[in-house]
Amino acid sequence: MATADQIKMLVQSHFDSNDDRFRTLVLQIAASEAKKGHQTFARDLRGILDKYNTKSNKIIPFNKELDGLMRTELSDAKLTDLVVNKEIKSRIEKVLLEYWQKDKLNKYGLTNRRKILLTGKPGTGKTLTASVLAGRTKLPLCTIVMDKLVTKYMGETSVKLRQIFDFISHNPAIYLFDEFDTIGSERSLDNDVGEIRRILNSFLQFIEQDESDSIIVAATNNPQLLDKALFRRFDDVIHYNLPDRDQVIKLISNKLGSFNHGLLSLEKVADEALTLSHSDITMACNNAVKEAILKGLDYIDEDLIMRMIIERKEVYLRGGS
Ligand SMILES: Nc1ncnc2c1ncn2[C@@H]1O[C@H](COP(=O)(O)OP(=O)(O)O)[C@@H](O)[C@H]1O
Ligand SMILES: [Mg+2]
Repeated sequence: MATADQIKMLVQSHFDSNDDRFRTLVLQIAASEAKKGHQTFARDLRGILDKYNTKSNKIIPFNKELDGLMRTELSDAKLTDLVVNKEIKSRIEKVLLEYWQKDKLNKYGLTNRRKILLTGKPGTGKTLTASVLAGRTKLPLCTIVMDKLVTKYMGETSVKLRQIFDFISHNPAIYLFDEFDTIGSERSLDNDVGEIRRILNSFLQFIEQDESDSIIVAATNNPQLLDKALFRRFDDVIHYNLPDRDQVIKLISNKLGSFNHGLLSLEKVADEALTLSHSDITMACNNAVKEAILKGLDYIDEDLIMRMIIERKEVYLRGGS
């Protein structure tokens, strides 16, 4: 059964006309019922939500103490949205597979892999992976913004971390510690070593002790800055790379969709785009589609997409890196 607090908050959110909060609460009740083995009830509850799916995907986090530190949202991202190599795909599938069959694993004293570290260049799909995990498990996605955690609450970061992990243990969700290196990397810096070390160590301890039903994802663009000791706290470490040729082609044809009338040689475009990240290529495609729409065209030719790709590349040239 839902706890007294949950029922009170449900009633409150009804009278506040706060749909998002209401939906989050129902999802949390469903998740905790599922945990107790009441799968049918949990499924029915989620089914009702699906039936009355509102347009808004954003949910206001209702833990006031964590406000500003954690964003909560629902995701309907699919695995097919993610263009990655076979190895990454199969690792993500394994996380999902073990999550869905965790009860079976638990019977043998085993736990599903649920503490995952994602590393790799910016714009290669780490954040998107957390969305996919949320979309596929139908759990809410809660993103903890690490730089806020560290800079904004320097003195009380450990307290905040405790609150976050307490929240994690009571609210099954996908928890994304994004830009996680802001904590990890500082460990070796000379300034304020004591404080940073304390924060990082308590973070590691919390990760280690966590036995919740949540999936914890830490993402970093700078794995080389991380203390190697961190790696073994995770059930899996997945490395993301810039897209190879096949991925570039797949990404472009996915993103252009019905605007691709076969007027362009994807091979040639891919050659031009090869040094860019998934995110840059996505942007170039979106820019091309936008330009076509504004010009009243329903197709994209080679000249247009090439221009947009070169434009993305120039962003970096001008940035001097
Ligand atoms: N591997 C990928 N496959 C498909 N789209 C991607 C991929 N990586 C990035 N994108 C696109 O770029 C956007 C930003 O990527 P993101 O996941 O935030 O990158 P990261 O977290 O690795 O910096 C995504 O929302 C998506 O549109
Ligand atoms: Mg990211």
